[in-house]
Amino acid sequence: MPAPIGIISSGATESYAIVILYDGMEKKVENESLVLIKNKNGGKVLAVCRGGKGINDSLRTGSFTPGVAYAKSRRVPSSVKEYFLFNLQVIGEIVDDKGISQNRIIIAPTSQVEVFDEDDNPMQYLGRSELTIGHYWGRPSWKIPVLKEYINYHIGVFGVTGSGKSYLTRYEIIPLLRKAGYDVIIMDWKGSDYSPYFKSTITFDKIKIDNQTVIKYFGSITKNFGYYEREENPVAAAVETALRQVDWRGKDAHTSRNLVYQRARSIIMNAPGVKEDTKTLQLNRLDASFEQITEEEFERFLGTIEPWEIVAEVREKGVLVIDMSKGIKDQKLAVFTAIVKYLKRLMENKQVLNIALVIDEGPQYAPWQPRGMERETTDIIIDLCALGRSYGLSIIILSQGMAGEIGLNSAVRRNLNTQFIGRIHPLDVEEAQKLAASYYISPETLLTLPEGHFYFLGRMNPSPIPLLISFQIDSTRKDTV
Ligand SMILES: Nc1ncnc2c1ncn2[C@@H]1O[C@H](COP(=O)(O)OP(=O)(O)OP(=O)(O)O)[C@@H](O)[C@H]1O
Ligand SMILES: [Mg+2]
Repeated sequence: MPAPIGIISSGATESYAIVILYDGMEKKVENESLVLIKNKNGGKVLAVCRGGKGINDSLRTGSFTPGVAYAKSRRVPSSVKEYFLFNLQVIGEIVDDKGISQNRIIIAPTSQVEVFDEDDNPMQYLGRSELTIGHYWGRPSWKIPVLKEYINYHIGVFGVTGSGKSYLTRYEIIPLLRKAGYDVIIMDWKGSDYSPYFKSTITFDKIKIDNQTVIKYFGSITKNFGYYEREENPVAAAVETALRQVDWRGKDAHTSRNLVYQRARSIIMNAPGVKEDTKTLQLNRLDASFEQITEEEFERFLGTIEPWEIVAEVREKGVLVIDMSKGIKDQKLAVFTAIVKYLKRLMENKQVLNIALVIDEGPQYAPWQPRGMERETTDIIIDLCALGRSYGLSIIILSQGMAGEIGLNSAVRRNLNTQFIGRIHPLDVEEAQKLAASYYISPETLLTLPEGHFYFLGRMNPSPIPLLISFQIDSTRKDTV
């Protein structure tokens, strides 16, 4: 049963109030405690404590008072004029004891406030969803309901390194996605966060990358084959044609590089209507480029698993991890591009996918200011987000930073309609202040959240204001799937 803790003070509105705590209750009520306000104007209101304050009128500072004099002389002034307050942010009015709606009635001063204890379950007022995520802060039995229909409005998980993003994803988000009927493809950038925990893993160099993406990659390592980006690029075109014409995959790197090089050379030499000195220049650029496109580079693209096979595999296994631990960044981006291009094509053909794509280390793919291959991956993620809302593709992006240099590309971030925000980086304080202003969550709180604690906000959250959640990890739980 909820226990009385205090009454509402003067100045309450329909969305915000202050509770004056009964004597001793300051030891029981904590930041983020959930409370029930029995509004004397009618209705029961669910609210959360955010930001408390201890006040003692004899100890006011700013001018010299007898109390200050007492303190100065190491004596303890009277605590008779001492009391404690908590700000209350309203979640909503409880309707028929089963749901909440926006509270529209002014909360009457002197209304009684009660705190829920472990045995109550105020989460029932947020809806009786089959699907839940983690539990309310400090209350392992209060599972947080989620709104399934917004899963494909995409999810962002933010927090500094070590805040628990990958754990939250592994222990809570992926199982939730499975329950909601999604097959899950995980891009495991580091190869250590997911690969060891799921049965089905593919190392990314086994995956076939389409010729267009290979050309983008070669362009990125050769300064665009010696051409300006907007300029017509006959060398790139020749190499691309060569990649298409010769059967270079599934061979050893030496042979396949040679095949492509020779074919590109002959394409340039036999081009009709091109002046000899222009051809010589093009051949020089081809040779210079192939100094960068070494056998080692070719080695990266000899994979033969087609993107459709990946989709077939995830359909069969439910969860598939792409282990990207070995190899260089642009190669990883190339593999990613190859896979998501295929998903995009399926959606453009109006196929409903019911697939979730987990992208850990999001800024590697879509940073604040994308360069080179990142531009391609950023654009395609934005396209996937838009198509995904109609065709059942959910994108889950993890990032250490929210905004600015350490953050995720802002156009991508705008598409992540549900967010989990853990401990933030000091560089994100400005971003945190925006949250603070809207929801009374102080930037200090966000800067000091313990690992495994996240504010849950956005479309999937049935509560209109963010809720602080956590989750239990079970070290014996090895194979999640
Ligand atoms: N709910 C939890 N309860 C207890 N400990 C946790 C919880 N979640 C995470 N941790 C601890 O925090 C550590 C870091 O978690 P995790 O690897 O998920 O961080 P991360 O945010 O993904 O960091 P990075 O950005 O470096 O990848 C874990 O090794 C684990 O010990
Ligand atoms: Mg991680």
